[in-house]
Amino acid sequence: MTSVALAFSGGLDTTVCVSLLQEEYGYDEVVGVTVDVGQPESEFDEAQETADAHGLDLHVVDAKEEFADLCFESVRANATYQGYPLGTALARPVIANAILEVAENEGCDALAHGCTGKGNDQLRFEAVWRASDLDVIAPVRELELTREWEMEYAEEKGLPVQSGNDGVWSIDTNLWSRSVEGGELEDPAHVPSEDIYEWTDDPANATETELVEITFEDGYPVALDGEDLEPVELVRQLNEQAGTHGVGRTDMMEDRMLGLKVRENYEHPAATTLLTAHEALEQLVLTKDERDFKRSVDNEWAQKGYEGLVDHPLMGALEGFIAETQTRVTGTVTVKFEGGQARAVGRESEYAVYSEDAASFNTSGVGDITQKDATGVAKYHGFQSRLANAATDATDERADSEGDWE
Ligand code: ARG
Repeated sequence: MTSVALAFSGGLDTTVCVSLLQEEYGYDEVVGVTVDVGQPESEFDEAQETADAHGLDLHVVDAKEEFADLCFESVRANATYQGYPLGTALARPVIANAILEVAENEGCDALAHGCTGKGNDQLRFEAVWRASDLDVIAPVRELELTREWEMEYAEEKGLPVQSGNDGVWSIDTNLWSRSVEGGELEDPAHVPSEDIYEWTDDPANATETELVEITFEDGYPVALDGEDLEPVELVRQLNEQAGTHGVGRTDMMEDRMLGLKVRENYEHPAATTLLTAHEALEQLVLTKDERDFKRSVDNEWAQKGYEGLVDHPLMGALEGFIAETQTRVTGTVTVKFEGGQARAVGRESEYAVYSEDAASFNTSGVGDITQKDATGVAKYHGFQSRLANAATDATDERADSEGDWE
């Protein structure tokens, strides 16, 4: 008997895949796997209902904690890709690994996903799966299916398809972000209506402001307003709180891995708040040199994160550097929610690279360093630039005066 483990969400693509894997690919058994990375409860109900109607054996794996931990690694790396905090991207390797584990336990011969041949997710899933000996199948891509064809096929076969938002948009939700794409949103000029948003209230209605204190230890968020919270709970609470202020909307053109530009809309209130606060704390505790260098390290981390390559050896190396810097990223940041924005308005840390005496307008110096000591520095500052400009001026003058002779 042959069997295949399918990444199953209960949506149109994966539902159609269940039948295709049996009929077109000839597998005797399809094992559905839904991985919990913090989607809303209703998605699991939908997946279960669809699975039941199909007679599909459905495994639900809870990977919320593992996913939240990875999101917090991304906070330490200040990670966004072109402005998007990587919710979908980081969830994929976690989901792929969970499915692989089920497949191995169940003795499956193959792994399958319902991704199209146009997006990033096929690459992220397969980067994990192709390290195993199991076959990898992508029916939607291999059979070049369109959404219309899938709708007709589902109707013909009497497959239970959850319509969700009536199939208008393709939505991907997890703890870190909610992504909405497709339909009229594919037109980059189309201005989305308020109904595409679920996590964030219209910032236009956010008249009240609110402060929240976020505490970090070694760069990891650990508490909100002084209350210690586990990562999953901390993100959930902050999504609620910042979401009511309309914080964390992104409407962007995204450069996908295959080179396609795609219009994307995202909501990520907690991610925006935590990334803002974390960066504010780094401003206080890291030296300029560390911050400058870390920017390029962070950028590489985000790039690999976007590609779904969290196990890339480069990631380990980058995280080595990041970990070294984060030993001082301990402290508390006050963030203000105001008019759809999260803004750091206060920060404190025992590791602050800051001397009030040195920086203040009200004192003359610090230790034995006096204001006068800066005179020598001021004399040298711009020395090379003055020399270079003087040499150029002299050369120009010479050329002008030689020209006069002619
Ligand atoms: N483009 C995003 C990414 O590659 C998210 C895609 C989410 N999928 C969706 N059906 N909304 O990370």
